[in-house]
Amino acid sequence: MSTQVINENLDDLKNADNYTGMWKDLWSARDTAWHLTHRNPTLVKYEHLLLDGRKGSRMLFPMCGKVIDMKYFWEQGYEVYGADCAAEAAQDFFKEQQLEYTCEDLDEKSRLYSVADKRLNIVQTNFLTLDNPLINNTIECVWDRGAFGTITEEEQKLYIQTMKRLLAPNFRYLLLVTEFDDKLWTGVPFSQPEEKVRQYFGDFCEIEKLDSKIPDHVGLYQKHMQTPLEVKETTYLLKPKQRGQA
Ligand SMILES: C[S@@+](CC[C@H](N)C(=O)[O-])C[C@H]1O[C@@H](n2cnc3c(N)ncnc32)[C@H](O)[C@@H]1O
Repeated sequence: MSTQVINENLDDLKNADNYTGMWKDLWSARDTAWHLTHRNPTLVKYEHLLLDGRKGSRMLFPMCGKVIDMKYFWEQGYEVYGADCAAEAAQDFFKEQQLEYTCEDLDEKSRLYSVADKRLNIVQTNFLTLDNPLINNTIECVWDRGAFGTITEEEQKLYIQTMKRLLAPNFRYLLLVTEFDDKLWTGVPFSQPEEKVRQYFGDFCEIEKLDSKIPDHVGLYQKHMQTPLEVKETTYLLKPKQRGQA
C-alpha cells in the first residue's frame, strides 16, 4: 500500500464509530489487562528525546486509557491531553490519581475532562475522527503505546489523518509498537514490523528506531494471548520530515 492510498482513502471514515464498541465493552467490564500500574519504562528512558529540552509543551497521549505518565508530565509543568473513547478511562484516571475534575462538551462528538488549571485533560472521543480547533496543529509531543499498534489497518489510516491534523510543525513523537510471530497470534495487539511503520509514517516523519526488546512486563501480553509468545516492544522516535528528504 502506498502512502498515497493512506492519504486518499476516506471510505473508512463512515465506519469510524464501529471500531470503538469492543473497547467500550472492555472498559465497562473494567477489563484493562494492558494497564501498567507504574510509569512506562520506555517513556522514562526516552523522555529526554521526546521533550528535547522544551518546557511546558503540549503533549498528546492518543488512546490513553488511564496511563499514569499523564499525571507525571502535568506535575512537571507540561500541558497534557489524553484521548480515549471510553468515559471510564477518564473517570477512573482522575479518581485513581485522586484529582478533582470537571467535564464539559468540547463539541458534539467529544467531552473534555480537566483538572482546575486545564493543563491535564482527557478528551473522551473517537480519536479517529478528532478534529477540533482547540488542539489541531498544536501538539508538540506524542507518546503512543497501545494505540497505533492495537488497531486495524482501516483504523490506522484514520489515525494517521488525525495525527496530521493535530501535530504542530516541530513535533517530537515516541511510537511504541509490538512485534511477534503473527502466525501464533492474530488479534489485538497486532504485530507491526518496521516496514509497516515506515509505510504509514514515512511521508511526513523522519524515523529513527531506538529500541526493540522483550519488556519486563511481557507477562501482560502473554496472559492476554494465552501463550508464552516472545513479544518485543519496538520504539521509534519520529520527527518532522525536512523538505526534500526522501
Ligand atoms: C491497549 S489500550 C492502551 C491504553 C494506553 N495507551 C496504555 O498504554 O495503557 C487501548 C486504548 O485505546 C482506546 N481506544 C481504542 N480505539 C479508540 C478510538 N478509536 N478512539 C479513542 N480511543 C480508543 C481504548 O479505549 C483503550 O483505552
